[in-house]
Amino acid sequence: MPRKQHRAGYYDKKIAKRMDIQEKLHAFQQYIDAEEKIEPKDWMPEEYRTHNIRQISQHAHSEVIGMQPEGNWITRAPTLRAKKILLAKIQDEAGHGLYLYSAAETLGISRDEMIQQLHTGKAKYSSVFNYPTLNWADIGAIGWLVDGAAVTNQLSLRRTSFGPYARAMFRICNEESFHQRQGYEIMLKMAKGTKDQKEMAQDALNRWWWPALMMFGPHDNQSSRTTKGMLWKIKRAGNDELRQRFIDKTVPQSEFLGLTIPDAALSWNETTGHYDTGEINWDEFNRVVAGDGPCNRERMDHHKRVHEEGAWVRAAAAAFADKQKGMADAF
Ligand SMILES: [Fe+2]
Ligand SMILES: [Fe+2]
Repeated sequence: MPRKQHRAGYYDKKIAKRMDIQEKLHAFQQYIDAEEKIEPKDWMPEEYRTHNIRQISQHAHSEVIGMQPEGNWITRAPTLRAKKILLAKIQDEAGHGLYLYSAAETLGISRDEMIQQLHTGKAKYSSVFNYPTLNWADIGAIGWLVDGAAVTNQLSLRRTSFGPYARAMFRICNEESFHQRQGYEIMLKMAKGTKDQKEMAQDALNRWWWPALMMFGPHDNQSSRTTKGMLWKIKRAGNDELRQRFIDKTVPQSEFLGLTIPDAALSWNETTGHYDTGEINWDEFNRVVAGDGPCNRERMDHHKRVHEEGAWVRAAAAAFADKQKGMADAF
């Protein structure tokens, strides 16, 4: 059905007023099933709104917290070229955070509230950023594996049903694929370098492989939110399917590097056409999500401290905006 016509039936306030909740829910689902986007001013079930706020703000927090493990290496990048690329990459992540906070704000939550939720532990961020970056190859492994996993997830989110989130994903995905390539370039240089460099690359792969797989979340049959998320097309593919997609794409890349994936059970399955893998250590996953990973406290302390130190910048920006508005109103 053409968008205008379809939209009129769903969104027209006079019609909506006469609908009861069941009729609204039905129209909402039909609209989603027709692959239309839900926009901020449209009627939506409260649970759809909170589901999106939780997912988008968690995504935004991950972009911002994810700057910390990499920022740690800006001053120690081995060449000026590597430093410039890393700076550009980290700056992109800040931009991704800002897009996503803005997308979440359209659902009626303020940026301050989201930051509060992060600081009190009510909102989460990706557990992968609670692991330390011990050597330069870790920057390669993060770009290759962590950004590679992120882009696998985010490509599918370009078709998410909430308009502002879907549109943010298009731009973000373009930048994420550059991040994945910059990481792979570092890994390639090290894997084909001296014996010591190759060992560093292997060590980084050993430490980042499993946390990268954990980024896709629990198995779908263990995840209570998957069903509603799929029904409302907030999520467009299951955790296990996305994880498998990432594994199938990444294993040949590690072979090209001459590095070994740290999973003795990894093997190609002719019948399914996918790689079989060993099981993720879910105890470790749950521990890190619950706040007891190697760097959880460090990441949060750093974020809180910088947020407090930056209070004057926010106050100055708000005062400046008020002044501009006052001047505009005077004319
Ligand atoms: Fe990003
Ligand atoms: Fe990235």
